[in-house]
Amino acid sequence: MALKKLVAGNWKMHGLSSDLAEIQAIADASRQYPQVDVALCVPAIMIERAARTVPGFPIGGQDVHYSEKGAHTGCTSAQMLLDAGAVLTIVGHSERRDSQRETDAEVKAKAEAALSCGLSVILCVGESLEVREQGKAVETAIAQLDASLPETMEGEGELAVAYEPIWAIGTGKVPTTSEIAEIHGAIRRCLLERYGAGGEQVRILYGGSVKPSNAAEIFSVEDVDGALVGGASLKTADFIPIVEAAAGIS
Ligand code: 13P
Repeated sequence: MALKKLVAGNWKMHGLSSDLAEIQAIADASRQYPQVDVALCVPAIMIERAARTVPGFPIGGQDVHYSEKGAHTGCTSAQMLLDAGAVLTIVGHSERRDSQRETDAEVKAKAEAALSCGLSVILCVGESLEVREQGKAVETAIAQLDASLPETMEGEGELAVAYEPIWAIGTGKVPTTSEIAEIHGAIRRCLLERYGAGGEQVRILYGGSVKPSNAAEIFSVEDVDGALVGGASLKTADFIPIVEAAAGIS
C-alpha cells in the first residue's frame, strides 16, 4: 500500500523574521492538501518564531546533537528542538557530513537521540558524483544507510530516509527515474532487513533539485514516498506545486 507522501522543505541557512510571512503562506496553502504531509525545516534560531507563527504546522530542525546536554558549544539538543516547538529534524545531511565531518556513527547517534525524545527524523544518505561515475552509487548509499540507521525505531517520532545524491543538490541535475528506483528499492530492502515489517512504513524521500517541473515524474517512481526540497521550498509559488504533485493533482 502506498504511504502518505511527505514533502519537507529544507531552508538550510535561509530565513529571517521577514520570511515568517512566507512560512505562513506555505502553511496556509498546504492545508488544502491534507492527503500530503508537509513540513519545513528551518534554521535552529528560527524554529520558535516559525512554530509560533504557524501553530499545528510541522516545523523542524536541520541537525541535532546526540547528547542530552553538556559542553558542546554552538550545538542544539533534541530536547531543545522540542522545547522550541520542533516536531522533526533532519540528520546526516551531506552538507553537514562534508563541512562538519559528521560520521555515520554520529548520524546514527543523532537519529537515536531525536527519536527517543519524540522528534521525527529525516535521515539523509547519498553518493558523490565520483562514486556514481565509478558505478558504486547503490553500494555506497546502502553502506552509509546501514551504518547510520538507528538500532530500533522505538519512540514517538517517526523515521524517514532521504536519498539525496550530492551531485544533484542545488545543481539542477536529477538522476533518471530508473536510477532513483534502483536506489529507493535497495533502501527499502535494507529497511526491511533491519526492521522487519516496520521497514515498510518508513517513508523514503528523494532530494536533489526537486522542482515543480520534475516533481510529478519523481513521485511516480516506486518507493518514492515524498521529497526533501531545498531551493524550491523557499517560496510558496515553487513549493506548493510540488505539494500538489505529491497529492497527485498536477
Ligand atoms: P535542492 O532542492 O536545492 O537541490 O536541495 C536539496 C537538499 O539538499 C534538500 O535537503
